[in-house]
Amino acid sequence: MPNVQIMDHPLIQHKINYIRSEDVGSKEFREIVSEIASLMCYEASRDLKLTDVKIKTPICEMTGKKLSGKKMAVVPILRAGLGMVDGILKMIPAAKVGHIGLYRDPKTFQPVEYYCKLPADCSEREVFVVDPMLATGGSSAAAIQLLKDKGVKHIRFLCIIAAPEGVELMKAEHPDVALYIGALDDHLNEHKYIVPGLGDAGDRIFGTK
Ligand code: URA
Repeated sequence: MPNVQIMDHPLIQHKINYIRSEDVGSKEFREIVSEIASLMCYEASRDLKLTDVKIKTPICEMTGKKLSGKKMAVVPILRAGLGMVDGILKMIPAAKVGHIGLYRDPKTFQPVEYYCKLPADCSEREVFVVDPMLATGGSSAAAIQLLKDKGVKHIRFLCIIAAPEGVELMKAEHPDVALYIGALDDHLNEHKYIVPGLGDAGDRIFGTK
């Protein structure tokens, strides 16, 4: 799976394992989701381009490195994706933030767009789309299509837990988009929740259950 990367870093694995437990409350859940997002961002940004730059330290002149490629944006899929934004911004503070709101129709399970606000120059940016849970893949694929329709060409998708069904859909609909996955779970249940998963990520982040 060339465009699909399962993050095997021990810290990521440990933290994901920790938040799966139903005993973890919202405050802790939120904090650890943010930490996982930072770690995943670190891994997912390994191939960003660098350029030489001359600087002067207090000791001498030197040629250092700085990021040279496109400007970046992080686009959470509302609402659970919001939980990953701070963690990404800790690593890339200059990134702009867009928002895409999609809900899953409870009967058809199809994504319905209700909000989209992106940085004006989003099409020139390297965009990190974030959603903690890649379940059916419907919302994620729709969000990425929306970005492509607005001219965005460089898209990475980061999720904490994925189901095989969602990965297959993303690979089929967006083979050009790199997928970064914290843990690949077993399957979806009849309510389209990931098994074993961690429950409803939005409810757990915002304490709405
Ligand atoms: N969304 C969630 O928050 N959890 C799931 O298991 C599936 C979709």
